[in-house]
Amino acid sequence: MSITLRINGQNRVTAAAPETPLLYILRNDFELNAAKCGCGRAQCGDCTVMLDGEPVRSCVTPAAAVGKRNITTLEGLGSISKLHALQQAFIDEQAAQCGYCSSGMIISAKALLDTHRSPTEEQIRNALAGNLCRCGTHTRIIRAIQRAAKALA
Ligand code: FES
Ligand code: FES
Repeated sequence: MSITLRINGQNRVTAAAPETPLLYILRNDFELNAAKCGCGRAQCGDCTVMLDGEPVRSCVTPAAAVGKRNITTLEGLGSISKLHALQQAFIDEQAAQCGYCSSGMIISAKALLDTHRSPTEEQIRNALAGNLCRCGTHTRIIRAIQRAAKALA
């Protein structure tokens, strides 16, 4: 039996068992390694991807629960030659140290900016409340999201 997933605009087929977490399929089957496994228990946000624009924890999302929804990972946001405004802003603000949290942070920020074009700092903080950064770059991350919001306005 196989499962077809719509990932970054393409149909991808996996033979993984239906209960397999989406995170494992992205990384192990399709080499989409941006989403990370931090805790594996929906506690850190490192594995965040979007399902039809909603940020979800892919470490606790079984493949069978995805259905026909569109999966967006960091790899689907921009390209090497044309970065998404959020990716560029994270570089410009140097909003990473180890970078382990960055993919989840950017995906959560993307979901926010898709619905709030000019978010307040409080809205940004609330949107990222479930994304942890062990390196303490939160201040720069918030600045990067504010910079991206201006660039996209
Ligand atoms: S790895 Fe999924 S929330 Fe931590
Ligand atoms: S930059 Fe290291 S965990 Fe956030």
